[in-house]
Amino acid sequence: MLPPVINILEKAAKKAGRILIRDFGEIENLQIQSKSMGDFVTNCDLKIEKILIDTLRYYYPNISFITEETGIIKGDQDTIIIDPIDGTSNFIHGIPQVAIVIAMIKNNEILDGVIFNPILNEFYWASKGKGAWCNNKRLRVSKRQNLTDCLIGTGIPFGERIYNGYLDEINSISKNTAGLRRLGSASIDLAYVAAGKLDGFWEKDLNLWDVSSGVLLVREAGGQVSEPNGNDWSINSRDILASNLLIHNQLKENLSLL
Ligand code: IPD
Ligand code: CA
Ligand code: CA
Repeated sequence: MLPPVINILEKAAKKAGRILIRDFGEIENLQIQSKSMGDFVTNCDLKIEKILIDTLRYYYPNISFITEETGIIKGDQDTIIIDPIDGTSNFIHGIPQVAIVIAMIKNNEILDGVIFNPILNEFYWASKGKGAWCNNKRLRVSKRQNLTDCLIGTGIPFGERIYNGYLDEINSISKNTAGLRRLGSASIDLAYVAAGKLDGFWEKDLNLWDVSSGVLLVREAGGQVSEPNGNDWSINSRDILASNLLIHNQLKENLSLL
């Protein structure tokens, strides 16, 4: 049986998922606006965000929200974090790495989170102390400990997000691992670390809505999350390194040697 909060987050995510499926692939009919270079919002992102807020408000009338497209909606202490489509560029291009992300935070701690890819019908969820799951399957991080066997995800910065040193990071990690993947959805990258598909993931300059549920999934699947320099990850962090734990120090060293 799903924990009660996950039940509610699932109801909202699955309702929104029907809208995403309907608009997916309708590339000609999407209304697309640019927020900054390479950062887009579509009418579908906005529709999904509205459905999520309306549905969740029915169950939690006084809750606060932090959402990508609306911003902060002040309510009581507990906060729901929403990314209506994580992977909007993929969505615009008809690439199925897209997810609806909802997390519940209490006292600055992520307690519940869901990542739903309606195109692949993959419903990832985690609840503190109750494990990480995809549909009915319990997730565990991978057991690989030699970096040379590992597949690592990253987010390659674009436009204004370019930072000094990212090419060196890519150079260093790709020289020492079995390969890099850029899936285009940070939440799915983290879900894949939790599922043991990727052995690690790092990206800089992310927002809380990109990573909230994924952080909990990785931790509940037995993995480790920190900032790339090894500092503790908190809900105010912008940079993230997540792994199967066994390779965490090796990844950190490769990223901080630069
Ligand atoms: C983006 C995705 C992408 C990451 C970007 C995010 P969006 O989120 O997670 O993988 O590299 O930094 O902004 O804009 O598609 O919600
Ligand atoms: Ca996002
Ligand atoms: Ca988004």
